[in-house]
Amino acid sequence: MASGPLLTGYPLVSPAQRLGPLLAAERLDAIAVTEPLNLRHLVGFTGSNGVLVVWAERAVFYTDSRYTLQARAETRGVEVVETPDLDRAAGADLERGGARYVGLQAPGLTAARWRRLERIARGIDLVDLKGSVDALRVAKTPGEIAHLTAAARLAEEALRAVLPRVAVGVTEAEVAREFHLEVLRRGGDGLAFETIVAGGERGALPHARPGARAFQAGDLVVFDFGVRLGGYCADQTVTVPVGPVAAEARAVYDLVLRAQAAALAALKPGVPLVEVDRAAREVIRAAGYGAHFGHGTGHGIGLAVHEAPTVSERSDDVAREGMVVTVEPGIYLEGRFGVRLEDMARVTADGCQRLTSIPKELGAVLDWARGA
Ligand code: GLY
Ligand code: MN
Ligand code: MN
Repeated sequence: MASGPLLTGYPLVSPAQRLGPLLAAERLDAIAVTEPLNLRHLVGFTGSNGVLVVWAERAVFYTDSRYTLQARAETRGVEVVETPDLDRAAGADLERGGARYVGLQAPGLTAARWRRLERIARGIDLVDLKGSVDALRVAKTPGEIAHLTAAARLAEEALRAVLPRVAVGVTEAEVAREFHLEVLRRGGDGLAFETIVAGGERGALPHARPGARAFQAGDLVVFDFGVRLGGYCADQTVTVPVGPVAAEARAVYDLVLRAQAAALAALKPGVPLVEVDRAAREVIRAAGYGAHFGHGTGHGIGLAVHEAPTVSERSDDVAREGMVVTVEPGIYLEGRFGVRLEDMARVTADGCQRLTSIPKELGAVLDWARGA
């Protein structure tokens, strides 16, 4: 992951301030954070190995010798401790400091690491914080919105450069490779996930890997593209027609477009995200295609391409101002074709605003790419 200045605003707020309410709510003496993206978010560290121990008044960052200089340069307001065994050093300090209850997120830690931590710090009760530290990333700051928007713009310009290659005779793999090169050429850190370019019947595989199939006249091509820029992710899907498409494909396309519009219209502060999912799903179900929309309507996006909250039938989150989620209904008809349309949207004070900018009506992406 490329480093680069983080303008999120959070590294300017001490981790003790950020985690203070959680420490108090859970009656903890300290919280230990291990997930690299949460470390990046809380203290700006972009390396792969660190443990951040946050007490009410101070924070200590443990890392190994590969990252000591980097951690000193990137972080502020934490004491940096170099050690070959992060968990042992953190555990010993917690015991010395008299900690009795220490919070940790079990999701993201292996069961083996959790058990080792229990052995290391025998006098300490480890409390599973579940997703409570991840939850600090859900509402984005204006700086983070700017990063996400910049990532979306870079992805769109890379798409614009390769879209003329979505033409009869060119293969999915060729287009996916060109897209990757365009991202790197434009200064992106890299792809946020393996690009999906799936034409014709392969579009019915929601997460198809680009292959040797060449585009044919009349195809719909599902093109799902993600990039990372300054650590932040973009994720968008267009479905591109290769020449005129058949009547049912047009009808299904318009159905997905209406489903997406319904979800975007429902997305506003205070609305349970399960309702946002239902808004899209109902449109598709009412037209008889419910069985062909198997995945959720969307997901949070930020430092991770998939992060809290989820926009699905299983979601128990409620839309809040500052959240950024994808809205990506799809219909997949086995052996025939698929359609997915995906945008990133920020929840505003009274609704939502797209961070992605490509128009989604059938064929509009081609006019957009030509600058028409
Ligand atoms: N391509 C992954 C996603 O849209 O969530
Ligand atoms: Mn997505
Ligand atoms: Mn996507």
